[in-house]
Amino acid sequence: MACVPCLLLLSLLRASAASPLPEEPCELDDEVEAIRCTCNFSDPKPDWSSALQCLSAVQVELHGGGRSLEEFLKRVDLDAKPQQYVDVVKSLPWQRLTVAAARVPAPLLASALQMLGYSRLRELTLQDLEVTGTTPTPLLEASGPDLHSLHLRNVTWAARGAWLAELQPWLKPGLQVLTIIQARSLAFSCEQVRPFPALTTLDLSDNPGLGESGLNLALCPHKFPALQVLALRNAGLETLLGVCAALATAGVRPRQLDLSHNSLRAEPGAPKCVWPSELLSLNLSFAGLEEVPKGLPAKLSVLDLSCNRLNRAPRSDELPKVSNLSLDGNPFLDSEPSNPEENIGNSGMVPICASSSLAVGMSGTVALLQGARGFA
Ligand SMILES: *[C@@H]1O[C@H](CO)[C@@H](O)[C@H](O)[C@H]1NC(C)=O
Ligand SMILES: *[C@@H]1O[C@H](CO)[C@@H](O)[C@H](O)[C@H]1NC(C)=O
Ligand SMILES: *[C@@H]1O[C@H](CO)[C@@H](O)[C@H](O)[C@H]1NC(C)=O
Ligand SMILES: *[C@@H]1O[C@H](CO)[C@@H](O)[C@H](O)[C@H]1NC(C)=O
Repeated sequence: MACVPCLLLLSLLRASAASPLPEEPCELDDEVEAIRCTCNFSDPKPDWSSALQCLSAVQVELHGGGRSLEEFLKRVDLDAKPQQYVDVVKSLPWQRLTVAAARVPAPLLASALQMLGYSRLRELTLQDLEVTGTTPTPLLEASGPDLHSLHLRNVTWAARGAWLAELQPWLKPGLQVLTIIQARSLAFSCEQVRPFPALTTLDLSDNPGLGESGLNLALCPHKFPALQVLALRNAGLETLLGVCAALATAGVRPRQLDLSHNSLRAEPGAPKCVWPSELLSLNLSFAGLEEVPKGLPAKLSVLDLSCNRLNRAPRSDELPKVSNLSLDGNPFLDSEPSNPEENIGNSGMVPICASSSLAVGMSGTVALLQGARGFA
């Protein structure tokens, strides 16, 4: 699909430089002080020339309205890189690109990435895409974009577990942030995946079908040597021991681990697992915990136990040494006689755990969706 931008925009650019430009789709993003344009091709007969304005924006969103891009495959030639296209792509100001809602043949995606290799793109988001077919191997390694972040949300791949290994050679190796949420294939063919030497953040949140066994398949051993932040929010995890063991097997040593919104259960008598010594911050909020789990790392800087079901204040011997502990939103805080100052502070306050029902609702939908299709 991204090459629909390239191929289409570029041929349009040559053919019709004088199309009228619709005004609204672009706006100034105050936060980053850059123009953001949305080009929406959802209409059954889209006005492709409206894509022109997206050429001059720094942040670009392309919506395909769920259309299939098979027809553009005929025009793709992975070996041909006409110089005029290369020059235009080099001059694009694009830094952030979102491509959403389309059925994309994998060779088209590969050709788009190859073209984007000439751009200054730093952040790519693929959302609600169905990628069909298999991705060809690039002639030249790492000929795609030099991305800082790649976000995938609800992207399905005909290549199933092989997709990551197929996609990887199309990216330069400097990727620092990888988000894969609402995925259906996280069981990677690890022997084909190469290490991500610069990847510091991996976010596998909102994959409620993952669980510990899925986590073992997703965390390819020794492929994430620089990982510092691992987010596993709402990932169907049930035991801390299972997570700890998966990290140990994969040789992943994060500093920050987010396990919030998982229904963790106590494991009396479970064997201990050695947490990575680097681990400084652990998020166990919204985890349905009725007691402080055993086997936590001995020392942490941040431990978030907010919005659980702790009925009594944890004893100091139950907690690790931690400088920044949050116990907000646990039942024992409601029943405890509190000093007047706190009462004033609490009265009329929006309950801090209110977002819980929202998150659970959303997870439920995703769970249903994944349950219906099976998690592979
Ligand atoms: C794109 O346009 C269609 C109508 O053609 C509209 O229903 C849809 O909400 C738009 N999508 C976005 C992301 O703007
Ligand atoms: C996921 O993407 C598909 C298109 O591939 C779309 O039909 C579906 O509605 C999306 N699901 C969600 C939950 O957004
Ligand atoms: C822990 O996770 C919850 C929910 O995902 C989030 O609201 C909270 O800010 C996180 N806590 C820390 C210390 O990052
Ligand atoms: C505790 O950690 C949270 C999340 O990392 C941070 O926002 C907060 O400022 C920290 N508080 C203290 C007192 O260090």
